[in-house]
Amino acid sequence: MSANIQAMTTPQRRHQTDPQPATRSGTFAIGGDVPVHRLGFGAMRLTGPGVWGEPADRTEAIAVLRRAIELGINLIDTADSYGPYVSEELIREALHPYERIDLFQLHRIDPKVSADDQFGLLRDLQSEGKVRHVGLSEVNVAEIEAARRIVPIATVQNQYNLVYRSSEDALDYCTRENIGFIPFFPLATGDLTKSGGPLRRAAARVNAQPSQVALAWLLKKSPVMLPIPGTSRVKHLEENTAAALLELDDSIMDELERQRG
Ligand SMILES: NC(=O)c1ccc[n+]([C@@H]2O[C@H](COP(=O)([O-])OP(=O)(O)OC[C@H]3O[C@@H](n4cnc5c(N)ncnc54)[C@H](OP(=O)(O)O)[C@@H]3O)[C@@H](O)[C@H]2O)c1
Repeated sequence: MSANIQAMTTPQRRHQTDPQPATRSGTFAIGGDVPVHRLGFGAMRLTGPGVWGEPADRTEAIAVLRRAIELGINLIDTADSYGPYVSEELIREALHPYERIDLFQLHRIDPKVSADDQFGLLRDLQSEGKVRHVGLSEVNVAEIEAARRIVPIATVQNQYNLVYRSSEDALDYCTRENIGFIPFFPLATGDLTKSGGPLRRAAARVNAQPSQVALAWLLKKSPVMLPIPGTSRVKHLEENTAAALLELDDSIMDELERQRG
């Protein structure tokens, strides 16, 4: 491919003509009946420093959330611990009205309480109609299987990115079982966005930003992959969402596959 054609197809340029790039990441139906575009957004970075308190720029945080919807994002990850409560209050202010919780994920299995009791509580919330689907976070295959004996599991949210892959088994299991896999820290908390970082060579080859290569790699790894990159800036949100327009070929995937941390 000539340099010229490659330049014309950079994710940034195509983004200018595609107002809803997140729709190009494909669709995954959570629990079989809640369809989302696979490239989502993580709201943790909308809080203050150290995931604590109000953001430095509240207006920008609200703008990020509203821009995310404009860009076609319809999967937003949040937790009451972010702030605490700050990311959820921002989401309410920016995006209400919305109704029941479509996906409720157990942040961690509490080791001090019977796991079956925790899974049973999730089942009760679901049967009472308070939550549509149930997920888990930071779990291994045995834990997913134990939970599934009590309540259907629609998603698993584990730490996973190009340089941190200890959840490879859980990802393979989710792919086989058609369970959504939501990698948190998809940009390795920003390390994979750096121009001098581990993705610089691949990014130059495809004429894209390193963050976009990191996200496109995730999207291509599995059809159940639902990345939720976090940012507090509209500019970064737009750059990240345009990753849905970047198609990586097998030679780049092979190169990245060898690049484990
Ligand atoms: N289940 C769990 O236990 C768990 C744990 C942690 C996180 N999470 C979820 O996972 C989401 C993703 O994780 P994360 O946000 O911590 O990490 P991440 O997505 O790997 O990286 C976010 C960091 O990268 C920076 N960044 C994002 N896009 C960028 C770009 N295009 N260029 C340069 N810098 C960029 C952000 O700073 P700027 O704000 O400056 O853009 C931010 O500091 C969270 O938001 C949260 O919803 C879940």
